Amino acid sequence: MTVPEYAARTKYDRRVAKRYRRDAEGRRGRENRVLLDLLRGLSPVESLLDAPCGVGRVAALSELQGIPYTGLDLAPAMLERAVDRCRDEKRTVAWIRGDLESLPVKGRAFDVVLCLRLLHHLPEPTRSRVVQEAARAASRAVVFTYFHPFALHYAQRRLKTFLTGRVSHRYSHTSGWIDRCLRDEGWRLAAERGTGFLRETRYALFLRDDRDG
Ligand SMILES: C[S@@+](CC[C@H](N)C(=O)[O-])C[C@H]1O[C@@H](n2cnc3c(N)ncnc32)[C@H](O)[C@@H]1O
Repeated sequence: MTVPEYAARTKYDRRVAKRYRRDAEGRRGRENRVLLDLLRGLSPVESLLDAPCGVGRVAALSELQGIPYTGLDLAPAMLERAVDRCRDEKRTVAWIRGDLESLPVKGRAFDVVLCLRLLHHLPEPTRSRVVQEAARAASRAVVFTYFHPFALHYAQRRLKTFLTGRVSHRYSHTSGWIDRCLRDEGWRLAAERGTGFLRETRYALFLRDDRDG
């Protein structure tokens, strides 16, 4: 089967990486708080894989200082910026250039895996593949973000597509859809959080039921 190409696989070049932190990260304060809250509930976290790590939004969170951290991304330009940003950090960090469609790590290699702000870029069947790969790498927990179809933001996007004829390459689904991808692999949905009234980005935490399996 041919895996469909999607823009997020190739669009994060030097130019996009340069403005990503300024343009996108400024709007992530609320998301960071949601993430930290979920991670606090998992404390102590023994190791963390952040895939994709982008330009190091999560890597730079001072609240995660004590946790051995690995950032993985496909785009060299994004990874370079993340590495630069964390150069002076005193904690254990590692970086991998890798593809979430086929992660270059062993099964259950990390205590917790984060897969943030990627699923909404992915068409099927790539999206299911990435969900399963992220979960495969985690021994205890995996956190995804996804775009919920019933949020006002998403409705605005659909309306824009309708009015302009320009197709949006953002995909929405529910946490139930992720749950169905993972249920047979021994995972269960443990928590879900919105990131604000009417916003489409939501966080979903999955826990492994068969931790010794
Ligand atoms: C919107 S950014 C999100 C980055 C980070 N998770 C955050 O929340 O700030 C999407 C990232 O996904 C990466 N990406 C896209 N396809 C990928 C793949 N197949 N494997 C690994 N990274 C990928 C891009 O290079 C980009 O850095």
